[in-house]
Amino acid sequence: MSLVVREMAESEVDLIIDYFHASPPDHLELIGVDRERLPKREDWRAYYEVVFRQPLERRETLLLTWLDDERPVGFSSADKIVFGQHAHMHLHVTAADQRRRGLGGEAVRRSVELYFEQLRLKRLFCEPHAFNAAPNRTLRSAGFRYLKTHITVPGPLNFRQPVTRWVISRPAKLDS
Ligand SMILES: CC(C)(COP(=O)(O)OP(=O)(O)OC[C@H]1O[C@@H](n2cnc3c(N)ncnc32)[C@H](O)[C@@H]1OP(=O)(O)O)[C@@H](O)C(=O)NCCC(=O)NCCS
Repeated sequence: MSLVVREMAESEVDLIIDYFHASPPDHLELIGVDRERLPKREDWRAYYEVVFRQPLERRETLLLTWLDDERPVGFSSADKIVFGQHAHMHLHVTAADQRRRGLGGEAVRRSVELYFEQLRLKRLFCEPHAFNAAPNRTLRSAGFRYLKTHITVPGPLNFRQPVTRWVISRPAKLDS
């Protein structure tokens, strides 16, 4: 494994768009996403065009690419960003056969560091579907603390579902 986690280039956003549009129904169900709520590909690209022009201090979403041996294998995004305060993160290894090999766990640790640095965060949250074991296990392993389980519509792509809320605080080493 030769993992790199870095900010996503605008030319790479199809990694996200294709992943959601190509996901089979059982996968969307597992991750709590409603296919009907996915933006059309061209509308989604147009939205990201706007986002990439926003300064970091006012970004609606910050996207990261996960690469293994220089090939994109996944991505993370942060949204609900209050710069200097907090944000929510998402985590996806895009190819099913690349999951459960240790990639996601390490990629999440590195993504967390990048979000804390770039967005000057104090806290970072993640709210996966409560029945989706993989992200829940991964977050715990990466140092997130479990807060609660509740029912909500966690984002614009999601249906109403039980989610577990996890949080990680800014490491002291970044404060100096
Ligand atoms: C969540 C995800 C990014 C984790 O990445 P990964 O490469 O599969 O995870 P790793 O191999 O690093 O494993 C991390 C931990 O999760 C556990 N895990 C991974 N897949 C699992 C599964 N399907 N069922 C139960 N546990 C699982 C591992 O055993 C490991 O646990 P440990 O650290 O306690 O030993 C990846 O599984 C994924 O993309 N899943 C589909 C998308 C998704 O569910 N995203 C979350 C939406 S909110």
